[in-house]
Amino acid sequence: MIRNLFGAALAFATLAASSTAAGMEAGKPTVLVTGANRGIGLEYVRQIAARGWNVIATVRKPAEATELQELAKAHAGVVIEPLDVTDHAAIDALAARYRDQPIDILLLNAAVTPSYPSAFKPLAGVDFDIARQSLLVNAIGPLKMCQAFMGQVAASAKKQIVVLSSKGGSFAESPKMPMMYEYRGSKAALDMYMYTLAFETPKKGVTLVLLSPGQVNTLTDPKLRAIKRPGVIEAPESVTKMLRIIDSLTPADNGKFLSYEDRSEIPW
Ligand SMILES: NC(=O)c1ccc[n+]([C@@H]2O[C@H](COP(=O)([O-])OP(=O)(O)OC[C@H]3O[C@@H](n4cnc5c(N)ncnc54)[C@H](OP(=O)(O)O)[C@@H]3O)[C@@H](O)[C@H]2O)c1
Repeated sequence: MIRNLFGAALAFATLAASSTAAGMEAGKPTVLVTGANRGIGLEYVRQIAARGWNVIATVRKPAEATELQELAKAHAGVVIEPLDVTDHAAIDALAARYRDQPIDILLLNAAVTPSYPSAFKPLAGVDFDIARQSLLVNAIGPLKMCQAFMGQVAASAKKQIVVLSSKGGSFAESPKMPMMYEYRGSKAALDMYMYTLAFETPKKGVTLVLLSPGQVNTLTDPKLRAIKRPGVIEAPESVTKMLRIIDSLTPADNGKFLSYEDRSEIPW
């Protein structure tokens, strides 16, 4: 009798230890992606799902994310979750629901990106609503995501945080001309938040890197998308190369800002 009770307790404990959130397959790496409905984020989901890994694909409007829904239908490990990264209560609530789910890669991709041609306006054209929203989404959002999900990343096997930044936020690499105030300022703020956080992550065994994805054609207007622009690549190429870098990350990479192309370090 005592042995039976002990056996039942042991079985329960084992089940609890190996349990994963609904839809997540145990034993497979799990990646959480923000801004997963289009552009680079959607391509990440596509390529990671093709590996048979679990993906928590977060989007602002799941009902409108038709391509992502198709991916979720085709891959059991893809779970779609509503999330606006400016909503800190929603971030905390999502992290609470996934508190027992190790997250191998926290992939912070969502951003307010420059819209053409308005992004190229000098001082007189700065849009302060866009500037404010860009700071909230591009810089504060990723920092809040790191705060909320650090425990789940530290509890995972890979323990990686990967943040999409841009040469647009680099003092050294950004074109020497007045443009994209809203975007550049937000990415420079993001870089400094992550630079600072990278002094904390090693204590948790977590490796944090920023990646520059290159100039990627993620325009939504089909006519504009079809125009070939020199130096601009398509999302599959960028994501394939970034995943190669992510696969090769070691703790020695913590705090680096790396180019998608050749893994070279981008100066701040
Ligand atoms: N494409 C490039 O050439 C390039 C170059 C350098 C860096 N990057 C960086 O790479 C990342 C992806 O770029 P992309 O070109 O794929 O961008 P994109 O096509 O403009 O997509 C942006 C994504 O962010 C989401 N998003 C915007 N505001 C959000 C919010 N408040 N909460 C949650 N999600 C939100 C969007 O969702 P909605 O559809 O709901 O708006 C969309 O899924 C960004 O961090 C960007 O800065 C891109």
